[in-house]
Amino acid sequence: MLTKVLESIQNKSPRRSVHNLVLWTGITFVLVAASTYFLSQTRPSIDYFTHRESKSGESSNPLLTNEGIDQYILDHAYPRLGENINFAGLRKLCSSTKWQPHVYFTCTHNLGGLMNVRNMVLNCVRYAIAAGASGLVLPQIEARDPAALNHLKTGEYQDMSFLFDEVWFKKVMKENCEQMELFDSMEDISYSGYATMPDLINIQTLMGQPRGNRHGLLRNKKPWEFRTHFDEIIKSQKQKPAERSPVIVRLDDKTLFSFPPSFDSPALANCFGFILEFRLGLTALANVIVDRVHRTSSISGGNNQYVGLHLRSEKDAGKYWASWDELADTTISTASNNSIKFIYVASGDAEGVAKLVDKAEKAGIQVLDKWSILYDDEKEYLKPFRFDQQAIVDYLALMRSDRFVGSGQSSFSSHLILRREILANISLAKGEKAANTEGAPRDQLAGPGRLGYWDMDWA
Ligand SMILES: *[C@@H]1O[C@H](CO)[C@@H](O)[C@H](O)[C@H]1NC(C)=O
Ligand SMILES: *[C@@H]1O[C@H](CO)[C@@H](O)[C@H](O)[C@H]1NC(C)=O
Repeated sequence: MLTKVLESIQNKSPRRSVHNLVLWTGITFVLVAASTYFLSQTRPSIDYFTHRESKSGESSNPLLTNEGIDQYILDHAYPRLGENINFAGLRKLCSSTKWQPHVYFTCTHNLGGLMNVRNMVLNCVRYAIAAGASGLVLPQIEARDPAALNHLKTGEYQDMSFLFDEVWFKKVMKENCEQMELFDSMEDISYSGYATMPDLINIQTLMGQPRGNRHGLLRNKKPWEFRTHFDEIIKSQKQKPAERSPVIVRLDDKTLFSFPPSFDSPALANCFGFILEFRLGLTALANVIVDRVHRTSSISGGNNQYVGLHLRSEKDAGKYWASWDELADTTISTASNNSIKFIYVASGDAEGVAKLVDKAEKAGIQVLDKWSILYDDEKEYLKPFRFDQQAIVDYLALMRSDRFVGSGQSSFSSHLILRREILANISLAKGEKAANTEGAPRDQLAGPGRLGYWDMDWA
């Protein structure tokens, strides 16, 4: 049969090509059906939280092989959120920008927790476009010290793929902002050896604002004046930007919450954050967790839902932040009020989680986290990842929870609420059957309100 298929492909007559199409569609259908069936047989179908013991002597974890993890990603990581997003706002921005040849941007000093790094990378790319830089070196991440998470300036620079999907970023930027060329590294810029490099730019100084570290102070008060100030820096260099003397600009590490999204049109502000997607393997794990919790809930006679909780009660949480009691009470009452039997918790506070397990049990509610849901081979894959990489799994599992409870003072929680609201609005606009018809008011922030400054992160 295969030879016949090959023959018919080589034969280019138009009548044959209709036959080919029908034949190939048939073959594809059979192959997909067969592989779906076989894959469905490879996982136990009941009790999703039973941890399989790995047999001793066998190191046959498929997730630790390239083919295995690729297959797992194919099976579980798609579709990406960004695939549903309309990037027209970005295209419009890039086509109306006045670009400056031979001026390049780098985004290197992005540090801190997962969502802070994300915000800083996005701000840097946004400033690069505002500057009209005709080239951008792929952003980098300064990784935190695994032994002391409050040690941020480690000098350990990682590629963007440490947290993000580089292929996605390149694709989205090429499709929607091709005026700004991407470079894998600074050395790939022609004549980079002859480049002029102005001092690290501090946005506050550039904008003539007082310097300060706290959230509200880092904010650029007049983003519409950025380009004028930036052009002055370029003009003040000894060499004009030219092919053999490019100018390479670097921002310092004070870009957190600097660019206010409200400066941009909603069409841009609502799509810009989606130029970043998280790395695929960890996205796949998160999707597996979400499906497993849903299935366990329906198998055990529940309503197929779970409450996601960001239990931000670690020792470094601020004194005035939502307390453990406020977070636990709000979560349990949200679950009880809605007949939900499962809580998915993300927290670095092991003691706090143990207390929550007890308290929830009295209300007939089970508390789960990534370590209790994943199988042994999946845990073996996840364990070597760093703290902020592992946080990707929690972020995505919380993002897809049916209800969410978090602390209004945590940027991680606040960001989740914002993004869940945007996603609810997008599915509403698309006329999808969204369970939530009121945007996001079903999410709960425990404790004293939202962060003082709200307009500070990209959805
Ligand atoms: C749950 O319901 C009770 C009674 O109606 C209400 O007082 C409480 O605020 C609700 N909890 C949440 C988190 O909505
Ligand atoms: C979602 O839609 C509501 C109603 O139109 C609007 O008030 C809200 O600002 C939207 N949320 C976001 C994050 O855009």
